[in-house]
Amino acid sequence: ATRAPSVQPVTHAAPPAEPSVAPLTIVYGTQTGNSRLLAERFKQQTERAGLPVRLVRASEYPVRELAREKLLVVVISTQGDGDPPDDARGFCEHLLGKRAPRLEGLRYAVLGLGDSSYPKFCEVGRQLDERLAELGASRLAARADCDLDFEPVASGWLDQTLERAREALEPHTPVVATVVPLRGSSTAPVVSKQAPFAAPVLANQRITGRGALKDVRHVELSLEGSGLEYTPGDALGVWAPNGPELVEAVLTTLRLDGSEPVTRDGKTWPLGHWLTEELELTRLSRPFLERQAALGGSEELGALLSPRGSESFRALLRSHQVIDVLRQHPAPWSATELVLALRKQTPRLYSIASSPKRVGAEAHLTVAVVDYTAFGARHLGTASHHLATRVDGTDTVRVFVERNERFRLPEDGARDVVMIGPGTGVAPFRGFVQERAETGAKGRNWLFFGEQHFRTQFLYQTEWLEALKKKTLHRLSVAFSRDTAEKVYVQQRLRESGKELYAWLEGGAAIYVCGDAQRMAPDVHQALVDIVVEHGARGREDAEDWLKSLRDERRYLRDVY
Ligand code: 2AM
Repeated sequence: ATRAPSVQPVTHAAPPAEPSVAPLTIVYGTQTGNSRLLAERFKQQTERAGLPVRLVRASEYPVRELAREKLLVVVISTQGDGDPPDDARGFCEHLLGKRAPRLEGLRYAVLGLGDSSYPKFCEVGRQLDERLAELGASRLAARADCDLDFEPVASGWLDQTLERAREALEPHTPVVATVVPLRGSSTAPVVSKQAPFAAPVLANQRITGRGALKDVRHVELSLEGSGLEYTPGDALGVWAPNGPELVEAVLTTLRLDGSEPVTRDGKTWPLGHWLTEELELTRLSRPFLERQAALGGSEELGALLSPRGSESFRALLRSHQVIDVLRQHPAPWSATELVLALRKQTPRLYSIASSPKRVGAEAHLTVAVVDYTAFGARHLGTASHHLATRVDGTDTVRVFVERNERFRLPEDGARDVVMIGPGTGVAPFRGFVQERAETGAKGRNWLFFGEQHFRTQFLYQTEWLEALKKKTLHRLSVAFSRDTAEKVYVQQRLRESGKELYAWLEGGAAIYVCGDAQRMAPDVHQALVDIVVEHGARGREDAEDWLKSLRDERRYLRDVY
């Protein structure tokens, strides 16, 4: 198969994020286009200042979101005898009408445009400005009224309002946290595992072709304003809620009501919230299974939990989710017992697939979407499904950076590197290759990649080909396991290039392995041992020792899971 795969090229020029409720929203209503012009200018200014912002035309603004806004800037003109522009009629009617919500939490600023030759000059801006105050919102900046030559008044107002918005936003950029500790004298909030950053999704693109068994996503997240920093090799921690279908399935199976309040660790929430946001529903744990066995009196489960059952117990942990056990071993769970027995949610870690030197304040991920059928029911991976269903330009994902000092490029850029990353194990190597290109590293880069099919699963193919052309990638060895009668894995490619590979290692190259820990990493290790035996003319034990010394020198590094 030599046809070009149908994967779409992934570009770095992602569209700017427009989260549905951004920290700052600009709404404009325009008849001739002047208000739009000014609103766009304000958006650019705020973006340049590093503040996340969204710009919405009044006719497209979902008024029900008003109550959730924190900062609102309205740029609006007045027509004829004090009327709003056509695109702002609904917006004005809603806001000026009886059903407008209270807006205590809102800070706002209004820029009015008009023509002073009319008696009701800037009437609409004036009305909105007063009405917002009446609804409990407070002014970020005093209103300004612009005449036909709007420029002098408008530009001063935009500058001043930007300054105020910056002051208002800096102490709380979009961090999902109740306690925001401060780092030193800086006012930027510290993002941590427990206080993750709500990262806007800039891109979410399937990079496996149609017909591929696997759904693999390339996800780009904005870290703008988070203060988060990373180095290639690091992982991004992702917090994800359990999906509504799964929560519903648990409730239905147990005939429980999601609205029932339950207290654990001094916190009281409805059961549905516990199951969605707080507790682990996909990964099993021993305490949960013990409670399940006791409550349901299941002998089968009891036997698995005994020391003799440890092998089957481990198999159960691998093959079953909470819902499967609940269905297979009925037990009279109460809401409280369930909440106490389930494990707390933990974030999932994804190797970051980018270099900040290339992509700036973004982190890219390569996500294999877990979606399979077992025991007659669909099973979805919590975090991968969450990521796969986030809409770019609208949604955010709660993230933090998990440092991984044990998986780093050589400090000396002149060293060669060998990267072995089948499947999504290729992710950190995309970051490595970007980093080495951006820093002008002199050493050579050799990538081994494997997947099932060339046509549909050659992840980042266009980028690798581009890198080869630019000589930021020097060798690319691929193994597609299901295109030929006999399976080919990356370790076969390693063996075929054994002589050269050994020469690279002798020359000081660092070797990296990322991906499956169960089978791939041990098989690759075995191939390396064989290569060292054959081309280094060493005994097996000697070869093992030599590889071990590479490990000690941090020249043989693995990130396997
Ligand atoms: P398979 O699914 O056809 O078995 C990424 O998942 C690639 O790694 C796939 O081509 C997969 O092949 C392959 N793979 C599976 N087991 C492996 C192993 N033990 N060593 C290396 N690659 C393996």
